[in-house]
Amino acid sequence: MIKKCLFPAAGYGTRFLPATKATPKEMLPILTKPLIQYGVEEAVEADIHTMAIITGRGKRAIEDHFDISYELEHQIKGGSKEQLLNEIRGLIKQCTFSYTRQIEMKGLGHAILTGETLIGKEAFAVVLADDLCYCEEEGVLAQMVEVYEKYQCSVIAIQEVPEDQTYKYGVIDGKLVDGTDNTYRVANMVEKPEPEEAPSNLAIIGRYILTPDIFDILRETKPGKGGEIQITDALLSQAKEGRVIAYKFKGKRFDCGSVDGFVEATNWFYDKM
Ligand code: G1P
Repeated sequence: MIKKCLFPAAGYGTRFLPATKATPKEMLPILTKPLIQYGVEEAVEADIHTMAIITGRGKRAIEDHFDISYELEHQIKGGSKEQLLNEIRGLIKQCTFSYTRQIEMKGLGHAILTGETLIGKEAFAVVLADDLCYCEEEGVLAQMVEVYEKYQCSVIAIQEVPEDQTYKYGVIDGKLVDGTDNTYRVANMVEKPEPEEAPSNLAIIGRYILTPDIFDILRETKPGKGGEIQITDALLSQAKEGRVIAYKFKGKRFDCGSVDGFVEATNWFYDKM
């Protein structure tokens, strides 16, 4: 069973400056809900209720969002606006939130390693909140938990991307397993390869289930692409032992870390209202 979900949320969000100068990028809203709330909802849908959030300087708004705001709630109590808080109140009641700060920005792998103290020795989920995923039938994390239960090893979400876009993603190579058309045993993975070096066009999306030995591997992982400690490099050690499954999920994904993806998500969720 997966009980904890880690949210790396210490990054600067430079692509959204100046909006992210004093506001965490995870708090940018798609319609009325901040990105990280969509991520927490997806975790709860997968029956995960312990949220471990990796924050940094300037990220206090995230903690305040998942807490009671006494003045505000007192002010709107009994009025028509009160129901606007129902959803977040319900969510907070179902979860516990713990936080730790990443002091230096040394990459996604380093952010995940920072979370070891909140996770301990159990398999856990990771959500990158700026990859906003939506599936009508079943959330992407819930789908991945089922895959984890079957294979009992690390699971990463993948999606086909245009071949000239591989430089934005971790890219995998692998073989389909058990006669499926969506589940691969990963043999190789490369962080942000140029198209000519990419082993395929199957790109990693910001959803992971990781077995806890990943922490020991991350401690030994040298800086890779961009001089940062990459989760892709750490996962490659597990993949070489046949212990990583890549899962082509059902549903849509919006890259809300880019302005184009953010606008696309906004329009899509607005049309769906
Ligand atoms: C990270 C990972 C990358 C993955 C991507 C998904 O990159 O390093 O492997 O494909 O998330 O969004 P980032 O987008 O944080 O640079």
